[in-house]
Order: sequence, then C-alpha cells, then structure tokens
Amino acid sequence: DENFIKRAFAYGVRVFVFDSREEIEKLARYAPGSKVYIRLSVSNDGSEWPLRGKYGVEVEIAVDLLLEAKKRGLDPFGITFHVGSQCTNPAAWVKAIRKSGILWNLAMTNGVEVLSLNIGGGFPIAYTRPVPTIKEVAGTIKDTIKEVFPRGIKVIVEPGRMIVGEAGLLVATVISKAIRDGQKWLYLDVGVFNGLMETIGGIEYPFTVSKKGSLSKFVLAGPSCDGFDVISEEVELPEPEIGDKIYINSAGAYTTAYASHFCGFPEPKTIVT
Ligand SMILES: Cc1ncc(COP(=O)(O)O)c(C=O)c1O
Repeated sequence: DENFIKRAFAYGVRVFVFDSREEIEKLARYAPGSKVYIRLSVSNDGSEWPLRGKYGVEVEIAVDLLLEAKKRGLDPFGITFHVGSQCTNPAAWVKAIRKSGILWNLAMTNGVEVLSLNIGGGFPIAYTRPVPTIKEVAGTIKDTIKEVFPRGIKVIVEPGRMIVGEAGLLVATVISKAIRDGQKWLYLDVGVFNGLMETIGGIEYPFTVSKKGSLSKFVLAGPSCDGFDVISEEVELPEPEIGDKIYINSAGAYTTAYASHFCGFPEPKTIVT
C-alpha cells in the first residue's frame, strides 16, 4: 500500500520488489530512484506451503517491467523468486535459478544489466519427516548460480522458517475429550486460529506427551467453535487426560505471528529461555 512504501522510504529503505505496472507507479512516486527487484514466477513443486500464483510474472513480462521501471527513474537492480515455503525439493531452486538466468540474459540484450539475484526463502526444517539438509540445498544452489550467472552477481537469501522454526516448542493443554463416530478427539487450548494456522495447509507438527503407554489414534482440535479448527486428523499418542500437556515441536515459525483472538481465546505466551 502506498502509505507503507512512503513510510519505508522515510525510514531509509531504498530496495523494493515489484511485479506490476501499478507497483512501478507507486514506487516511482513514493520511493523515487530506489533499487527494484522483479519477482519472477517459479515452480513451487515440492513446497509444503506454496506461495505460487499470488506474486511473480513470466520472463517476457518481467523484461518489459524492468525496462518500464528504468524509464520511470527506478534502478532495475535485481531478480527475485520464492520456491514456496518448506520446500523439500532442491531441484526447485535449480529450475528457478535457470529461469532467472534466462531473464538475466534477455534483460541484458535489452540494455538492462541486472546485478543481483535474491533467491528468497523456502529452506525446509524437519517436522515429522526428514528433509534435505541446508548443506545439500545450499550446495545445489551455489553450483547452479555458478553455472548460470556471471561472477560477481550479488546473491541475497531470505531464510525464514529455517532460522526460527526449530527454536520454538509450543506447550498446549488438553481441555476436553470426546468420542465421535468411533474416533477419539482431543481438544487443546491452541488451534488453527491461535497459533497452528499452518496445519490447515498440511504442515504436520510432531506432537508428544510426557507419559508412556500404549498408543491410540486421536483427532486433535483447537478450542474455537469453528469446524476448520482441526490441527491433525490422526496422531498416535499414549492417551492423555484433561489437564495433561501436549508438546508441539518445531513451532517457532508462522505460529504466534499468525495467531488471532478469534472466539476470545488468547495467543500463546512467548517465553524466551
Ligand atoms: C518474500 C519472502 N521472502 C522470504 C520468506 C521466508 O520464507 P521461508 O520461511 O519459507 O524461508 C517469505 C515467506 O513468506 C517471503 O514471502
């Protein structure tokens, strides 16, 4: 929004991302002379939380927009993309970097030398399944950039989930239990609307309890009135009782930041240790 751009510019931000003529107009007016990155549309195959569709343009449109940005006094500085969050497929970065290389060449042919590549985020963490290590993903990325781009290209990375995801443990309490259609349900004081939003897109957190015993299958639901407030359809746990704690690992990213007070339930408190 234009107020956001104005405020960022006033604070000294001189680098922006855009992917439409409308955004060029706003940036030219409220952030004149800024460096701009064009957001390229790339495959999000292998991402468990895809970002594709909402942002990004194809190569030919990207070139036109870079030229237009230059005409409007902006500095067409870079190319950026995002392969989708929690991306467990290193080949997605390879494809995206190669596509960025095609754009880089086409832009050069049209008189625009792009000096930077921002490869966004997407680096995965282990929830309930193993994922490629950061060393493996970074190695693939590095090799592909070397193969596609000239030496000296300024590479920027925007890791989110990978930095903070495994740093958070969400401690929930069982507030109720029920058996519905033969299935055991556990109701927790945290759900989709106050911390576990990403469960509706398929992120599967590891759940544990501190007791031992034979395992049963449970549907785990949050406290609100909403039917969408189901955080897992099938979790195996030793049967907890009301008041017992459920520990939700790898909950440091996209949890409290998404949380609302829907139905009057509080956000989880954050305790830094
Ligand atoms: C532009 C951009 N960069 C970086 C990130 C961080 O992504 P991740 O947490 O998948 O590393 C996001 C997340 O939505 C984003 O939109």
